[in-house]
Amino acid sequence: MDTAGVALYQSLHDEHDYVVDEYEGDLPDDLRGTLYRNGPGKVTGSQETPGHLLDGDGMVSMFSIADGRLSFRNRYVRTRHYRQSLVAKGSLGRGFSAMQAGGILANVLRPPANVANTGVVMHAGNLLALWEGGRPTKIDPDTLATIGKYDFDGDLSWFGTFSAHPKKDPQTGEMLSFGMEIFPTPAMVCHGIDGRGKLRRLGRLGMHRPRFNHDFAITPGFLVFAIPPLVMPTHKLVSAGLGLTSYIDAIEYDSTAETLIVLVPRYGGKTRVYLTDPMLHMHISNAHEDGSDVVVDLVTYQLSWQQLNEQFSLCGTRLFDPTVPFGGSVRRLRIGKSGRVAHDQLGDALGEFPTCNPQWVGQQNRFTYLAAATAGSPYPNLVVKIDSVAATEVSHLLPPGHLAHEAIFAPRPGGTEEDDGWLLVVTQDLDTDVGNLIVLDAKNLAAEPIYVGRLRHHMPLTFHGCFTPRVARACDRPEPR
Ligand SMILES: [Fe+2]
Repeated sequence: MDTAGVALYQSLHDEHDYVVDEYEGDLPDDLRGTLYRNGPGKVTGSQETPGHLLDGDGMVSMFSIADGRLSFRNRYVRTRHYRQSLVAKGSLGRGFSAMQAGGILANVLRPPANVANTGVVMHAGNLLALWEGGRPTKIDPDTLATIGKYDFDGDLSWFGTFSAHPKKDPQTGEMLSFGMEIFPTPAMVCHGIDGRGKLRRLGRLGMHRPRFNHDFAITPGFLVFAIPPLVMPTHKLVSAGLGLTSYIDAIEYDSTAETLIVLVPRYGGKTRVYLTDPMLHMHISNAHEDGSDVVVDLVTYQLSWQQLNEQFSLCGTRLFDPTVPFGGSVRRLRIGKSGRVAHDQLGDALGEFPTCNPQWVGQQNRFTYLAAATAGSPYPNLVVKIDSVAATEVSHLLPPGHLAHEAIFAPRPGGTEEDDGWLLVVTQDLDTDVGNLIVLDAKNLAAEPIYVGRLRHHMPLTFHGCFTPRVARACDRPEPR
């Protein structure tokens, strides 16, 4: 389709509760559970100061599946920023990109607002909306009502920065995470949260020069970081802190610096740091140990940092720049004990939001799933399954005009094969302006969808989500059609 003039992003202001009654196909009987998604449901901007997706108010969506029926609910996270947005006119305050109205005095020493818009995870019975610059926000897993900021009974200290990409170890039940700290000195602080929700601090990695890092991976023995050379020069950080420039403008890609490979032991021992070629990446798909090697898969960009950043800046209603290809390619890094890092590319697809079967996290997985784009498409219109053993890839081309969000793997209960399960893909149909939940057979990805449920409204881009076999309570009084 011609994307010129098409609204690839638009805010969804309303909150809904209903049973999805317009659909094709049937939900499998053994697909039971809840898909949660989080993303910037509402972005405030103007022609003069375009909004930025990273500053949008977090909206959690819930797709509850049981007995062949799909129920939908969405609620905004009641952050301070969201509450102000209900009455404010114009600028709402500082974000990563947004500046508060009122000049330097209004922005000086003001941190970006916690908009709880990036990820959502269920762990130890807690549903947490995540934003990497601050504390998680606890959400009721049935009603999606906001309970409040969550600090793990006071164990998440200082600014409480907590990654939007925690990793749950299916072998131990532990969830691992990290937080980026800038003050008083730059560091990454690593955490483990056990199956009862108790947080322990695993270590603090000091960095002489602050860098921006978004994701990581785990193996049975390590937290695995590939920290890109997205540096924050001191003069730019000072300028941002003083309110002269935005925080996102304080980040620059230093192609003369290496990517830092950091292996943080989970159970004591010395942190290992290696250097490899500079790479621009945001997301890591998985990692595993192979003898004494550590292997990690990530999505690397050929774009510049500026191009990548601009893709998330909403100039009018544009989301992805039609002149810039969407996504990057999956690269495998093999990190030897000697410090040698070998690079290999997995597949040819250009995509983002890599996922795998959550039961294989930290183990050698064969299949990686991507939201990807056909050649010439500025937005993801494919779901791709990369087979790292057979060195092949299979695609599912979505109907024309459908923009794919991240594909989440829901394992089939009792299944033992890695691809025995379903991919749950939220899409936005740009032609009809309606959101969908599409269920694909992960084992037979190219086949027709098993189920397509049409929402009653559009669906703004969601960043990340999770699936849990717990079935969220559907609405007692669904809204009439
Ligand atoms: Fe992310």
